[in-house]
Amino acid sequence: MSKRKRILSGIQPSGTIHIGNYFGAVENWVHLMKDYDCFFTIVDLHAITVTYDQALLPKRVWDAALDNMAAGLDPDKCTIFVQSHVPEHTELCWLLNCVTPLGELGRMTQFKEKSERERENVTAGLLNYPILQAADILIYKADAVPVGEDQAQHLEFTREVARRFNGRFGGYFPEPATLIGRGARVMGLDGDSKMSKSMGNHIGVVEAPDSIWEKLRPAKTDEARKRRTDPGDPDRCNIFSYHKLVTPDGEIKEIVAGCTGAKIGCLDCKKVFFNNLMKVLDPIRERRQALEKDPERVREALREGARKARAVARETLDGAKKLMGLLG
Ligand code: TRP
Ligand code: SF4
Repeated sequence: MSKRKRILSGIQPSGTIHIGNYFGAVENWVHLMKDYDCFFTIVDLHAITVTYDQALLPKRVWDAALDNMAAGLDPDKCTIFVQSHVPEHTELCWLLNCVTPLGELGRMTQFKEKSERERENVTAGLLNYPILQAADILIYKADAVPVGEDQAQHLEFTREVARRFNGRFGGYFPEPATLIGRGARVMGLDGDSKMSKSMGNHIGVVEAPDSIWEKLRPAKTDEARKRRTDPGDPDRCNIFSYHKLVTPDGEIKEIVAGCTGAKIGCLDCKKVFFNNLMKVLDPIRERRQALEKDPERVREALREGARKARAVARETLDGAKKLMGLLG
């Protein structure tokens, strides 16, 4: 048995990942894998709480699995699995449903936003989304959950669920800490909003290099810099924010000097970023291609992940059922 602290995080099955996902989350998870016993679950049961296309979901799950594995979630070093392959999550979710006051669910920010967006399809599943998320976490008795700022409320909610269960049935679930990653908030190519696939302003992690360059070439820089002879301000330039993700300090200094002194053109500056980005993405793309050629290995890794996860989940679930008077 490992004595390392345990973490769990959820991965939305939104298909292939972009550099916002990578530098905002996955890169950090890969570091955490060294010190923690890590569980990562692709949350297909959460994905169906809003309108979705059932014909496309399997590929979205598959692409999320391949990209995340290629980006460093090595199944030999962590437990990675598809949420619906571990039915104990939904069973614990039901038990937790029965200790959660209805009123709290309608107040969750993400519920309010999503139900605003889809007024004609506000399901009970969407309302109960945070309870399923609490089940994802508590079923592994996770010590901590690495997430972005936007999930802080769901984490606070999870701790309340644990407290309420513990208060009613006896101390059982540890309250998981929120590990807000040191991950970057990566802006989209438009420079106006956070990088996201739905905004179409993203750079894919396994996107073809040519295609990435075609997107970078016309991308916005410091808008006040009209001509190459104009000095620029890196702090007003989206491309410079990208440099900070991949460009070594020495080269960053050169770019700042070159930009403010009008000695480097924006296209050359983008080229430097592109080359540094490729140093990160090339090996990921290669691993992804290798995984694609061997789908059985991926399926087997996900089966094994689910098997390992189930062993832990079953035990937690049985303990909870016993406390609730449900097992003989
Ligand atoms: N709600 C999370 C998100 O939107 C995804 C998620 C589901 C999750 N279950 C989780 C995150 C458990 C952390 C832990 O990103
Ligand atoms: Fe941005 Fe680089 Fe152009 Fe300066 S030189 S404005 S940092 S792209």
